[in-house]
Amino acid sequence: MADYSREIERRRTFAIISHPDAGKTTLTEKFLLYGGVLNQAGSVKGKATARHAVSDWMEIEKQRGISVTSSVLQFLYDGYCINILDTPGHQDFSEDTYRTLMAADSAVMVIDGGKGVEAQTRKLFKVCAMRHIPIFTFINKLDRDARDTFDLVDEIEKELGIPTCPVNWPIGSGKNFRGVYDRNTRRVLTFRDTLKGTKEGIEEEIDLNDPHLLDVITEDQKAQLEEEIELLDGASVEFDQSKVDKGELSPVFFGSALTNFGVETFLQHFLKMTSSPLPRMADCGLINPADPDFSAFVFKIQANMNKNHRDRIAFMRICSGKFDADKEVYHVQGDRKMRLLQPQQMMADDRHVVSEAYAGDIIGVFDPGLFSIGDTVCAPGKKFRFEGIPTFAPEHFARVALLDSMKRKQFVKGIEQIAQEGAIQIFRENSGGMEEIIVGVVGVLQFDVLKFRLENEYNVDIRLDMLPYEYIRWIVNKDEVDLDHLVGTSDMKKVVDMKGNPLLLFVNSWSVGMVLDRNEGLQLEEFSRN
Ligand code: G4P
Repeated sequence: MADYSREIERRRTFAIISHPDAGKTTLTEKFLLYGGVLNQAGSVKGKATARHAVSDWMEIEKQRGISVTSSVLQFLYDGYCINILDTPGHQDFSEDTYRTLMAADSAVMVIDGGKGVEAQTRKLFKVCAMRHIPIFTFINKLDRDARDTFDLVDEIEKELGIPTCPVNWPIGSGKNFRGVYDRNTRRVLTFRDTLKGTKEGIEEEIDLNDPHLLDVITEDQKAQLEEEIELLDGASVEFDQSKVDKGELSPVFFGSALTNFGVETFLQHFLKMTSSPLPRMADCGLINPADPDFSAFVFKIQANMNKNHRDRIAFMRICSGKFDADKEVYHVQGDRKMRLLQPQQMMADDRHVVSEAYAGDIIGVFDPGLFSIGDTVCAPGKKFRFEGIPTFAPEHFARVALLDSMKRKQFVKGIEQIAQEGAIQIFRENSGGMEEIIVGVVGVLQFDVLKFRLENEYNVDIRLDMLPYEYIRWIVNKDEVDLDHLVGTSDMKKVVDMKGNPLLLFVNSWSVGMVLDRNEGLQLEEFSRN
C-alpha cells in the first residue's frame, strides 16, 4: 500500500453537534486528553478561566467571549489521525456551522441526558441527515439525574426520525449512577466520580453474572437492569454497520463527559464504527480519497484574522490524495494554476504551517480574495468541480440603511465581500426604483458581526431594521414561472439573491402553502444549490 493510502486509511474526520451546554466542549476536551494534546482537560475553552476557544480570531469573539466561527482540531489516538470539526455551540451560531458539516464524514451528536433532544440538535441533525452521513449519539451528564433511558432513546427516534441501537445502557443516573452495561461484552463498566481532568481510569469491568457486581450495584438495580436488557434485546434494532454507514441507524452510548466516564469506550467504539474519508461527488463522478491526485474543496472562508491586513483564510477539506505544499495546484473556478499559500493546520490552541496533508484533513490557506465557498482545487491537468455547498435558509432578516449616503461605494463593496465569505446573505429588492438591501442570517449574532465589520474594516455606519420574515423559499423552476404575475399573500416579499436567483420571503409558514396553492406548478425549495 502506498504511504499516502495508509495515511488516508487512518484518518477520521467528524463534527460534534449539540445544543449549547449539552457538553460538546467538555467531550472534545476529554478526546484531546486521550490524544495527549492536552495535559489537563479544560484548556480548549473554559468560561471560568476566560480562555478562549481556538477559533477566537475576531475581535468580536473576544468581546463577547464566545466562538463565532468553527475550528478544526487534529490529534492522534491509537494509530488513528483524528480531525474534529468544531461547531459553535452558541445560540447565535451561523451558516458556517452548517457548512462545516459538509466537510465531515460523520457526526457525533451530544445530548444532555436530563433534557433530551433540543432545538439546535434538531437543526444540525437535519443537515447531517441530508448528507446521509453516519451519526453517533452520546447521551451525556449521566452523573446528574437523567430522564428515563427508554424515553430518551424513543425521543431521538421519533423527533429525529432515525432508528437507534444502544451499544451500552446506563445503570441509574445522578446519585444512583453506577456505570454502563456493554451489550456486546455483557459486562458492566463501573462509575467512579473521581476522574475529572484525568485519563487514569479506576473503572472496573465486571461481568453481569459475577457476584462481585452486587458490591457495586444494589439488587434492585441489577433486577431493573436485567429487565431493561430483556426489553431492549426484544425491542431494539440490531446493530448493522451498513445501516450506520448510510446514516440509517445511530449507535447510542451513555456517559458523563465531565467526570470522564464512558468517554474512552465511546471513542474506541466510534473510531471502529465510523469510516475513513468518504468519496465525494464531483461533476465527473465520485472522487475516491485514495486517488493519488490531490483535490479539495473550500467549505469556509474566515476573514481578517490579522486586523492590519484584509486577508482571509480559506478552509479546504482535502478529498483525495496528498497535499504537497511545494507543488502547484489548479483552482478550477479561477481557472489558474497556483501554489497554496501558508497552508496551516490547527492542533488545540496552536496553528502551524504544514508541508503535507492527506485526504480527510482540513487545511487553512492564505486567501488574497481568490476563493469562494464551494470552489474546487485539484491537480493541474484535472478540471472537475465538486458538488456545490448548499446555501442554507437564513432565519432572520433585516433591512440595511446606510447612514452616510456618500459612502455607498464602500458600503456595497464591504457588504458584498462579507456576503461572499458566507457570513451573511444579501438580497435585493426593487421598490419604486430604489434598490433596497436586505440581509439574511442564520444566527442573529451575524447582524452584530456585519455592523462591527462594516464600521471597522470599511468605515461605514449602518442601521439595521429588523424584518418579520422567517421563511425563505427559492424558486426552483424560475424559468417556467412568470414572476410578475405570481399570486402572492399580503406578508410575502419578492427579492433576488446575490446571483440573481428569485426568491420569496414569508412571515408565516401557512403563507408558503397558500402561495403554492395559488400558483399551479410553482416549485419552492428551502435552500439554493445554485
Ligand atoms: P457545550 O460545549 O455543549 O456548550 O457544553 P460545555 O461542554 O461547555 O458544557 C456545558 C456545562 O455542562 C459546563 O458547565 C460543563 O462543565 C457541564 N458538563 C458537561 N458535561 C457534563 C457532565 O457529564 N456532567 C455534568 N454534571 N456536567 C457536565 P458550566 O458550569 O456551564 O461551565 P464550566 O464553568 O464548568 O465551564
